[in-house]
Amino acid sequence: ITRFPLIPVRGVPLMNYIANNWDSIWDFCPDPSDLLIATYPKAGTTWTQEIVDLLLHNGDAEACKRAPTPVRSPFLEIFSPPPIPSGLDLLEKMDPPRVIKTHLPFQLVPPGFWENKCKAIYVARNAKDNLVSYYYFDLMNQTQPEPGPFGGYIHKFMQGQLSWGSWYDHVKGYWLEREKRNILYLFYEDMKENPRREVERIMKYLDLSVSDEVISQIVELTSFKNMKENPMANYSCVPSPVFDQSISPFMRKGEVGDWKNHFTAEQSKLFDEDYEKQMKDVDIPFRTLI
Ligand code: A3P
Repeated sequence: ITRFPLIPVRGVPLMNYIANNWDSIWDFCPDPSDLLIATYPKAGTTWTQEIVDLLLHNGDAEACKRAPTPVRSPFLEIFSPPPIPSGLDLLEKMDPPRVIKTHLPFQLVPPGFWENKCKAIYVARNAKDNLVSYYYFDLMNQTQPEPGPFGGYIHKFMQGQLSWGSWYDHVKGYWLEREKRNILYLFYEDMKENPRREVERIMKYLDLSVSDEVISQIVELTSFKNMKENPMANYSCVPSPVFDQSISPFMRKGEVGDWKNHFTAEQSKLFDEDYEKQMKDVDIPFRTLI
């Protein structure tokens, strides 16, 4: 197992296997019925995917098991070493309507998505919790660059040196385009606060209509506790040398405000001062506590 080095693609550090296949990713031609789920890593991708899958299958968990990959839909830009198929290979074999996940920042999303007016759901999570979650992920995922000590990791996050680049540019990029591109912009904290309300928002956005009873069922099936036990959601399918879940489980804590257990008062102050500067041009209603 190798921890892949990062190579910039138009200034955004991406793992080398993504950068090396960049042209085929950029040229990807989506179908107008494709749905994109976009996130900065660790913002709630798997959770949103689970909700969407269940909505598309009217809450039928058994039907969802016939997904194309053990962990639901493919990631557009993931090129695993052979014989593991790339996201593009998997997508080619799927029939529309497809759900496609990506961590690419807005400016690196293949333009075909917008030309074809595809729907897209963006999920954002407050910076501090997102950082903590990413730190544990970089510890356990043996293909991601080594995170190093937590203090240094905070600096890398602030400087946009982690894979998929700057959190600040990521959340702003989709925020500024959300109206023009009809992107549903969700917050992890809202999903925690009132999952039912957010499931209903997703349902309406997708022009679906499921009964109140099915919505309750979806909320239950997508609780942190149930997803942690669900092999379709907890990434237990990824072999242990790649995801070492003994270091940190993929379904780790699932809470808002866990950053308080990790940042010192000094680190938090420094982070907040930098945050003010990096986010001064936008007003995105993030919450670090609920
Ligand atoms: P933590 O590390 O804070 O626990 P992604 O799917 O984008 O990789 O995000 C993973 C993060 O979302 C992890 O955060 C994970 O525990 C959390 N998560 C996944 N499913 C969840 C759920 N149903 N409810 C709350 N959090 C969830």
